Amino acid sequence: MTPTMPNSISHPSTDRYAVIGNPIAQSKSPLIHSAFAQVTGQDINYTKVLGPMGEFVATVDAFRASGGRGMNVTAPFKLDAFAYATDLALSAQMAGAVNALKFEGERVYAENFDGVGLVRDLVHNLQHPLQGRRVLILGAGGATRGALLPLLAEQPAELVIVNRTVAKAQELAALALQHQTGQVPVQGLGYDAVQGAFDVVLNASSSSLSGELPPLPASVFAPGCLAYDLTYGKGLTPFLKLAQQAGVTRLADGVGMLAEQAAEAFAWWRGVRPETGAVIAQLTVPLV
Ligand code: ATR
Repeated sequence: MTPTMPNSISHPSTDRYAVIGNPIAQSKSPLIHSAFAQVTGQDINYTKVLGPMGEFVATVDAFRASGGRGMNVTAPFKLDAFAYATDLALSAQMAGAVNALKFEGERVYAENFDGVGLVRDLVHNLQHPLQGRRVLILGAGGATRGALLPLLAEQPAELVIVNRTVAKAQELAALALQHQTGQVPVQGLGYDAVQGAFDVVLNASSSSLSGELPPLPASVFAPGCLAYDLTYGKGLTPFLKLAQQAGVTRLADGVGMLAEQAAEAFAWWRGVRPETGAVIAQLTVPLV
């Protein structure tokens, strides 16, 4: 079975890309990449592939056989993509997960652009530099893992990872210290051990997906702090509401990160990096 249908305006020579996941109907990737293709003048066809559970390999093999050049990978296949790759970038190794694939002959190159997309959104779009700042990140799952090296590359004064399960935060802190090229102090703590105030507080836990509030003291938000929830499209999450009630005026969700990780993948595939402003404006959900 062919996993995708080329759309009617593409030519036989049009390069094919897709996002694979299950479910996949919710994915914004086709909208984003089609917009990028239009503004950069790239002739690509980008579709959604619903990957049947347990059939990641067969589905991707079929896509490649039909001329597919690259894929974005979303839940629940990020680990399958990790196993499928022949060449894993450091970003994917650090994240322990893959969100973009590039096919070249027999080679399958794999990347994870989430972390670099997050940092690009913070520093470039939101104009909130990290250098010399105290950064707190909530959660010690895949989202935090992927963000560690890109965050540390910005040379913050300190990076604190806070998690309900303290051992996981400590593990990630050790991993970050082992792999960073600089000398940034990194700590992994439980919520009751967090002290002081931070200039950037990032919610990379999955709490917002379930509408829960991480047990975070309101004292963590320094004056002028940016509170950023990596989830997208949930409006004012309990985390962002806590920040707002603590007096934080700079609030953001992950829409910019979503667009920026897509732009990184697009540039990796096509050699041209699109502007993200129009896509971010189109996808922004008000924080209310
Ligand atoms: P992801 O890949 O999206 O990071 P994950 O690997 O399942 O997802 O990790 C989810 C993270 O969110 C974990 O760090 C989890 O904390 P525990 O390790 O203690 O379970 C964190 N998390 C989930 N719900 C939370 C909540 N309500 N409050 C605080 N942290 C939460």
